[in-house]
Amino acid sequence: MNASISKIAVIGLGNVGLPMSLLCLQQGFDVIGVDLKPDSVMTNIKNHYPELLSYIQQDAFHISSHYCYVKEASAVLICVPTPLRQEEPDLHHVTDALEALLPYLQPNQLIVLESSTYPGTTKKVMLPILEKSGLRVGKDIFVGYSPERIDPGSDYTLKEIPKLVSGTTNDCLGKISTLYSTMFSTVVPVSSTEIAEMTKLLENSYRLINISFINELAILCDALQLDIWEVIDAAKTKPFGFAPFYPGAGIGGHCIPVDPLYLNWIASKAGKRSKFIEAAKEINGQMAQHIVSQLPKALSTAESGLKDTTVLVIGVTYKKDYPDIKGSTVLDLFTLLQQKQAVISYHDPYVPLLTIGDKVHYSTPLTVQTLASIDCVLIHTDHSSIPIQFLLDHAKVIYDTKNVTKNYTGKARVFRMGSGRNQQDQS
Ligand SMILES: NC(=O)c1ccc[n+]([C@@H]2O[C@H](COP(=O)([O-])OP(=O)(O)OC[C@H]3O[C@@H](n4cnc5c(N)ncnc54)[C@H](O)[C@@H]3O)[C@@H](O)[C@H]2O)c1
Repeated sequence: MNASISKIAVIGLGNVGLPMSLLCLQQGFDVIGVDLKPDSVMTNIKNHYPELLSYIQQDAFHISSHYCYVKEASAVLICVPTPLRQEEPDLHHVTDALEALLPYLQPNQLIVLESSTYPGTTKKVMLPILEKSGLRVGKDIFVGYSPERIDPGSDYTLKEIPKLVSGTTNDCLGKISTLYSTMFSTVVPVSSTEIAEMTKLLENSYRLINISFINELAILCDALQLDIWEVIDAAKTKPFGFAPFYPGAGIGGHCIPVDPLYLNWIASKAGKRSKFIEAAKEINGQMAQHIVSQLPKALSTAESGLKDTTVLVIGVTYKKDYPDIKGSTVLDLFTLLQQKQAVISYHDPYVPLLTIGDKVHYSTPLTVQTLASIDCVLIHTDHSSIPIQFLLDHAKVIYDTKNVTKNYTGKARVFRMGSGRNQQDQS
């Protein structure tokens, strides 16, 4: 623990703010958590972060919707959402949080933005608001940017992920680096807040573009009747110059569909644009359509339509083993299947019910009877708990977008996306 800091305020207690709070608490700091919706935060804690409950009971973690408690903190970490509005950056959560913070700012506090955003936000959006306090940045208060790199559901603990830090002055950088060094195994200082902001956008644009490229190759491989999965496995034996990415139904979640558009937007302010980001967005938008267009082939029906075809979608979250449907491509898939008048149901152990448009769907238990009555099982998310062999043994047809059926055999006819034909036809 940093000797001069005992309390840290975390503003915005969601997917980022709660793990950050936990890390601060584990390192011995008390945490003041501020969120506009403390009741939903408590529900989220009970369901997904139960280890935080004991800190609440011990009074080490105090949650409120009121900013006044921030007065007691030596550092304030801002983890509020940075979404899009009409495809453009919407920073109102950040500016609202800063305005609400203003009356409670104290000399010597560190204020660090963790939300993903475009280069220039810390200096051009944050500083003008904070300076209204009359406190001088770099002298009375210390301001910086440290992008959150958390990967929900992954094996990396937050502490292990190297933490980029930046400051608006050298003193700001020094104080912020010192604080973060007490929490993270590796701290990586960079020369400016703009570099830190841009690095986060590079990281997520890199993922968007590479996933989109491999999705485009999956579409090409379907047309060429070549197995994209075998091609990737072969390519990744090269020990340098190739990093594997894997196809899927598209891009979902909180960051990868959003952050590259922040980058393209700030580029447009400089009279430039990223053709790669625009192409990637377009290709991902085509994946649901591609899958739906392949289903009649997988079903081996003479019919080109899907009217009255029963489709059971397995996995609806945007990510494996993670209970979040934010931006999941399943929403597009359901809409397209409904337009084709297919009869849709789903199974997901993490999502008991799913509202699409005005219709509520409930997760269907996987039984022999259910599988026998379904025309096509469509694997969308590859949760570890999905009983692949059971599906192979009891389903009629499986359309697999994630290659999870690769090492299995059974009664079902299997069509793996990106291979262009039914597996049985390949042998
Ligand atoms: N979720 C991720 O995996 C992830 C990873 C890296 C970076 N990020 C970035 O971190 C930021 C936060 O994302 P998240 O996923 O935690 O969002 P989230 O939606 O899960 O949580 C944000 C929380 O902030 C609260 N909030 C909104 N406005 C507020 C305000 N003015 N004052 C106090 N609380 C407020 C909301 O009620 C909500 O509980 C975003 O910029 C996101 O892009 C997210």
